[in-house]
Amino acid sequence: MPMKVFNDLADFSIPEVEALLTLATRLQQKPESTALAGKVLAMLFLSPSLRTLSSFQAAMVRLGGGSFVISPDMSIHGLETRSGIVMDGVAAEHLREAIPVISSYGDALGIRAFANRTKLAEDLADTEFNAMRALVPKPLINMESAIQHPCQSLADWKTMDELKVPKKGGKFVLSWAWHPKALPLAVPSATLHMAAMRGMDVTVVRPDGFALPPQIMDKARKAASLSGGSVRETNDRKQALEGAHIIYAKEWMSTQHYGDRVADQKLREELQDWRVDDPWFATAHGDCRFMHCLPVRRGVAVTDRVLDGPRSVVIHEAQNRMWGQMAVLYQMLGPGA
Ligand code: CP
Repeated sequence: MPMKVFNDLADFSIPEVEALLTLATRLQQKPESTALAGKVLAMLFLSPSLRTLSSFQAAMVRLGGGSFVISPDMSIHGLETRSGIVMDGVAAEHLREAIPVISSYGDALGIRAFANRTKLAEDLADTEFNAMRALVPKPLINMESAIQHPCQSLADWKTMDELKVPKKGGKFVLSWAWHPKALPLAVPSATLHMAAMRGMDVTVVRPDGFALPPQIMDKARKAASLSGGSVRETNDRKQALEGAHIIYAKEWMSTQHYGDRVADQKLREELQDWRVDDPWFATAHGDCRFMHCLPVRRGVAVTDRVLDGPRSVVIHEAQNRMWGQMAVLYQMLGPGA
């Protein structure tokens, strides 16, 4: 079956994800440099990127196709995203026209649009992304929205498979990490779900005020019930890190004060010791690895000695972005699609 949308790993069964990962490894080991000949990937980046943008461009070239990107930083007309607005300001073009036009030049469209981080319910429902999605008459790839980052999750799953991190009985610790700004929930949400779907015992450890919303936890618990894994959440870092096979650090905004940057800032001010450092691994499993989706602020979320040390697999994860996405593109646009 050709893939029409790549938005959320939860839309796929475990065997379907595993088949994608097998395809990714096959394309890595046996390049198919004409599989997407003549195909074009259109990309709309409303938020910044290093890995996602460049890995999709490289993936298309490696498969024999091409791509183009549109972003507000380029020399384009100002883009309006709001509905029902009189456009008598700076913006000269609305997404309602821009998206169908960009889509019409490509065989598939990828969109990146970070969370507004104003209203939790809207971000959890991925309201903005879904409004854009409704304008796309072509296959669509979520390149990170308010609450999804499926490409990152696919790469992280592949990385753990390659490192032989156990599925059953593997302890995955998703830890909140210090950051001066209030960052979105997309990566923690997608990562939690990915690890639960992979069958791991997942612990979310975070300070008070940063609990992941029940909708995210419940969805992950459902995935764990199907995979044989488990999900729990705690503020006890010492206990959480015991026996960990993976410490996955991610910075996210306060859910207690969602949309209130001042209250969030006040809460995080005191939390600068949530910086991953060597002692965090003292009671972890001997082979415990450090994961992060990048970009990461050195000396803020994690120390140099962890990031540059043997436990860190952050570059491996980033490399796997390209291989994983090649599998997605192949399924969407390749032979048989
Ligand atoms: N991890 C990730 O998506 O990186 P970019 O924001 O650089 O694309």
